[in-house]
Amino acid sequence: MYSEKLLDHFKNPRNMGRIENADGIGKVGNPVCGDVMWIYIKVRDDRIADIKFETFGCGAAVATSSVITELAKGKTLEEAEKITNQDVIDVLEGLPPLKKHCSLLAEQGLRAAINDYREKQRAKH
Ligand code: FES
Repeated sequence: MYSEKLLDHFKNPRNMGRIENADGIGKVGNPVCGDVMWIYIKVRDDRIADIKFETFGCGAAVATSSVITELAKGKTLEEAEKITNQDVIDVLEGLPPLKKHCSLLAEQGLRAAINDYREKQRAKH
């Protein structure tokens, strides 16, 4: 059902954990399955200098979080905002149709973290 690539990201997730004093935090959940994901970002010169995730959810949700952190790291905020769940699915060489919604959490989590960062910046000025 899952590609080798997905199983690898599930068994050896990249960038898993929390960033203390993160510049932006995104928390998203899927009301249907109850899974929850946090994305933490550190921003330097408008780029994602560091990114980590914590996901309490299914294997596909863990793997897609892992992939999105790899895709977003080092990108400008503008570039990172354009990453879609389809980009994540492509890296994972496909997802079973029933699991597509899991990859949406990763996309939404990253965008929520970027929005949180922008709101905090606005509040400072
Ligand atoms: Fe909930 Fe995958 S089943 S995110």
